[in-house]
Amino acid sequence: MPKIITVVNTKGGAGKTTTVVNLARHLAEDYRVAVADSDPQKSSSNWFAKKPSKFKIEAASFKQIQALLANPRQLKFDYIIIDTPAGLNEQMLKIIALGSDFVIVPSKTSMLDIEPTIKLSKFLKDVQVDYKVLLTQVPAHAKNSVAIIKRVLYQRDIPFFKTVMRQLEANVMAAINHTTVFDMGYEGRAARLDYKLLAQEVEALLEKQEEPKAELAS
Ligand SMILES: Nc1ncnc2c1ncn2[C@@H]1O[C@H](COP(=O)(O)OP(=O)(O)OP(=O)(O)O)[C@@H](O)[C@H]1O
Ligand SMILES: [Mg+2]
Repeated sequence: MPKIITVVNTKGGAGKTTTVVNLARHLAEDYRVAVADSDPQKSSSNWFAKKPSKFKIEAASFKQIQALLANPRQLKFDYIIIDTPAGLNEQMLKIIALGSDFVIVPSKTSMLDIEPTIKLSKFLKDVQVDYKVLLTQVPAHAKNSVAIIKRVLYQRDIPFFKTVMRQLEANVMAAINHTTVFDMGYEGRAARLDYKLLAQEVEALLEKQEEPKAELAS
């Protein structure tokens, strides 16, 4: 049964597509991975100049996403990662989130970015979806403001990944060169580490979700 991870933030430029493409590329080292790009702008499906060899990536209409969520078993993948457009309406958001095993909410760390993230988090909590906020594009020397943002999330009972995605030029260069940080040289090293740490957290969370099912089955 594929595990479905949706990457969402109603705010534009949060880092959704960058997270989807690089996380997919890393998970594809060990798993069968597909990316479904539900953004009409097709940012992730147009990311690569030619189709990546390690994982599948396809543009998908909202109807196709709904069909996928209704019957994920038909797809022979371990992970399906869904990229979403900014400004996704609540109805679509609810359908996609409820059909997913886990939702990643990338967010920049300014107050202007965090406010919509808090609103979205409340929505995901209300619909009882497993999710975590992923702080992204975190500038160097931003320890104080990031600590304050983490406290804001903590006080609101909003879960967030321990890993934060640093603002690193390799992420920008990977997009410019239609590749991922895993297909770059030494200059991609720090960014690769961020995605590896994120993937470890994601894998641990999704494995944990499986435990009760295994208990029921035994
Ligand atoms: N960790 C990072 N370090 C540096 N730049 C980053 C990082 N993550 C994303 N970016 C840059 O930030 C911009 C927005 O990222 P991205 O396109 O992934 O966001 P998005 O949420 O998918 O945007 P949209 O809402 O338009 O789909 C891009 O120019 C991208 O290269
Ligand atoms: Mg995008």
